[in-house]
Amino acid sequence: MIDLHVVEATAKDAADVVDVIHAAFGARPPMNPPSTALQETVASVEQAVESGGGLLATVDGHAAGTMLFVEQDGWLHLRRVSVHPRHQHRGVATAMVGCAEEVAEVRGLDGVRLIGRVELPTTLAFWRRRGYLEAERNEPDVHFAKRLPVELAAPTADDMRELGVRLAGVLRAGDLVLLAGELGAGKTTLTQGIGAGLGIRGDVTSPTFVIARVHPSLDSGPALVHVDAYRLGGVLELDDLDLDASLDEAVTVVEWGEGLAEGLADDRLEVVLTRTVGADGDERWVRIVPVGRRWLDTPLRKFRS
Ligand SMILES: Nc1ncnc2c1ncn2[C@@H]1O[C@H](COP(=O)(O)OP(=O)(O)O)[C@@H](O)[C@H]1O
Ligand SMILES: [Mg+2]
Repeated sequence: MIDLHVVEATAKDAADVVDVIHAAFGARPPMNPPSTALQETVASVEQAVESGGGLLATVDGHAAGTMLFVEQDGWLHLRRVSVHPRHQHRGVATAMVGCAEEVAEVRGLDGVRLIGRVELPTTLAFWRRRGYLEAERNEPDVHFAKRLPVELAAPTADDMRELGVRLAGVLRAGDLVLLAGELGAGKTTLTQGIGAGLGIRGDVTSPTFVIARVHPSLDSGPALVHVDAYRLGGVLELDDLDLDASLDEAVTVVEWGEGLAEGLADDRLEVVLTRTVGADGDERWVRIVPVGRRWLDTPLRKFRS
């Protein structure tokens, strides 16, 4: 058993942080242009930690990993991501990434970004495995980004509808929204809000005989395709529904999407509705998970207010 800890770094940790950065970057193969990490000093790290914060990981009490944070445009940027060569392959980097994502969430940010180097394919694979998408490539730099889920309370049906209205504000033609949650969780109610936000014709209801309904826009916006997949067995094939609308020109909302419609599109919003019975009655939570490149340029931050 190793004793691995990750804490938020303070200015007092600057000497340890510099040691880890120098050890990690000093052990890399030579690169052109070289990283400026080796030029970091206790003073420069102190300043970086004081302005943006950072993490320090220890293994059995020894400084083993570090990263520095910069907040910009709603993103938490990770800099100088370092694991001391003596402490590699022990999950130090993975633990730090989990903590960094937590820091971003606590700070109300929408995602995490970092720049990797094309010469380090193992490192690039590490970020991809953790859900980081290549946002931009500027060789030798590879820019990675990951959007974070947003979780909100929706205590009443009106809150749920209002959340749908706000959600509609970031949706555009071609988008897919998957709503997962047990019967009565509020999926249709949320869809009603999305319909109201999009300005569509007709009421969104729980269809009894139809599986999918197309609600055209009242103006020039996208239509709403509302699919209730609850009664569909197996994997959903939207193509099989024979909809009188092109999904590229509509916003598609699928109730009971979990595990059914994931293969439909690489880009989607997965919305999980949960209802728990507490001492003060029902509690309803909505968790919105942005998936795919579509969401890299659309922050969900506005929902947090
Ligand atoms: N956030 C909420 N708080 C309280 N009641 C809600 C909420 N969302 C929906 N409801 C109510 O719960 C019932 C079921 O909602 P519905 O949207 O049909 O669920 P689902 O489509 O998930 O089966 C409705 O009477 C609705 O008004
Ligand atoms: Mg429903």
